[in-house]
Amino acid sequence: MDKEKKNGRGFIDILVGLQWGDEGKGKNIDDLLLSKTYQGVARFQGGANAGHTLNSAGVSFIGHIIPSGCLHEGIELYIGSEVVVDVVSLVKEIKELKEKGFDILPRLYISNRAKLVSYMHPFLDLADEAYRQGFGGKIGTTARGIGPAYSDSRARRGLLVGDVLYEDFSDKSENLALFHKNLLKLYAQEYGFEIPMEKIKESRENWLNAIEELRKMNICELSKLINERLQEGKNILAEGAQGIMLDIDFGDYPNVTSSNTLPANMCLGLGVPHGYIRNIYGVMKAYTTKVGGGHFPARISDEKTEKLFQDAGNEFGATTGRPRMCGWLDLFALEYAIRISGVNKIFINKADICPTEKVKVVTAYKKDGKITEEFPLRLNDITEVTTQDLPGWGQANFGVNKKENASPELLTYLNYVKQKLAPFGAEIISVGTGPSREHSFEF
Ligand code: GDP
Ligand code: IMO
Ligand code: MG
Repeated sequence: MDKEKKNGRGFIDILVGLQWGDEGKGKNIDDLLLSKTYQGVARFQGGANAGHTLNSAGVSFIGHIIPSGCLHEGIELYIGSEVVVDVVSLVKEIKELKEKGFDILPRLYISNRAKLVSYMHPFLDLADEAYRQGFGGKIGTTARGIGPAYSDSRARRGLLVGDVLYEDFSDKSENLALFHKNLLKLYAQEYGFEIPMEKIKESRENWLNAIEELRKMNICELSKLINERLQEGKNILAEGAQGIMLDIDFGDYPNVTSSNTLPANMCLGLGVPHGYIRNIYGVMKAYTTKVGGGHFPARISDEKTEKLFQDAGNEFGATTGRPRMCGWLDLFALEYAIRISGVNKIFINKADICPTEKVKVVTAYKKDGKITEEFPLRLNDITEVTTQDLPGWGQANFGVNKKENASPELLTYLNYVKQKLAPFGAEIISVGTGPSREHSFEF
């Protein structure tokens, strides 16, 4: 049963990734809009580190910063205050969408309190990675300036989207750039980072041009707008980026992103009270992937088998093109993710991908030979996992759109997962069998 909606007439459903990102969130957002339940889609955190793939009615699009409702005419698109806005990506995506026949500008609203990624942030991101290489290892960021942008925000020296409408913007941004240049000098002097002067110059120009475009967009007090929409009885779908295992506070710190990916952050990102929340959708894949540094306990240990999943699942990043590490389904991590997020409805994607005769499922983590009850502070501590073998189901389930047409092995697998996750209050509602929204069956 759906939770009763409270506080006014409309409601907010939230959709988040339950693993390490790239679970197929974009596809499921796009799909949920077909029900005509929602009048708006909001991004509430993260930035252009996200890459959400949409394959909708013959159109393909990868959104980094634009909410995944962009291919639905009439749906309002919101960018909330916990988002770090890469304005160059924003302008590029708007242009790309226009070329595909979607003029989203009139229906795009950006919070004046959203954080602005400056042209220096990606360089600071790279410099910080170079520094980390010598101290504990790289995070393997997307190099989109996410960490530095959130750091500046928390240090209260960053730029907000609304600042572009003030006369002092130019002074503010130049002062910040000077501070960043000094930081880069430090990275250069102390850690041998080579400052790419020409690239910085080019980025500055692109950024300033994009800022001009941003000034013409709907920059507003988004909280007021969204609360009004809810009062009018309109419903909103809030789209998480990354995944819960990448949450800054609850992930494997420091191998995380710099925002809270948990649905709890929706209230802060949109400026709405939590009473509006109805469902919290969680998206997972039938196996696990991860990009970047840090330990990955469920990783498939045999390289050849991992490669089979990478190739069959086309596991290459939508933002950076990097190959994604592949692992077995990690139920222990999923149980943790559901416990801390309150996800009550689950989409399982990539059920068409099974290039092995048998599959494993991780059921527990072991530290020093003992099963851990608590989720570990450092995944590095986990040297062993407990697994359960299940029969594989081959690659014959591609495009299956009725449960009765799914292979019996796949149904056994799904029922196993269902029974494991049910005690945590989450039910599987839909199973994805291909990249397009038509490729799925109700479960
Ligand atoms: P997101 O970041 O969570 O939106 O996911 P990405 O777009 O980064 O990665 C998901 C990838 O899987 C995309 O290439 C999708 O087109 C694809 N995809 C989504 N669902 C399915 C599915 O059920 N089966 C297959 N084969 N591909 C899928
Ligand atoms: P979507 O929304 C997968 C990962 C990076 C790196 C870590 C920190 O498409 O699921 P950052 O650039 O955020 O400082 O990098 O987080 N990461 C993602 N991995 N999908 C994403 O987004 C990701 N966004 C960031 O690979 O390990
Ligand atoms: Mg992605």
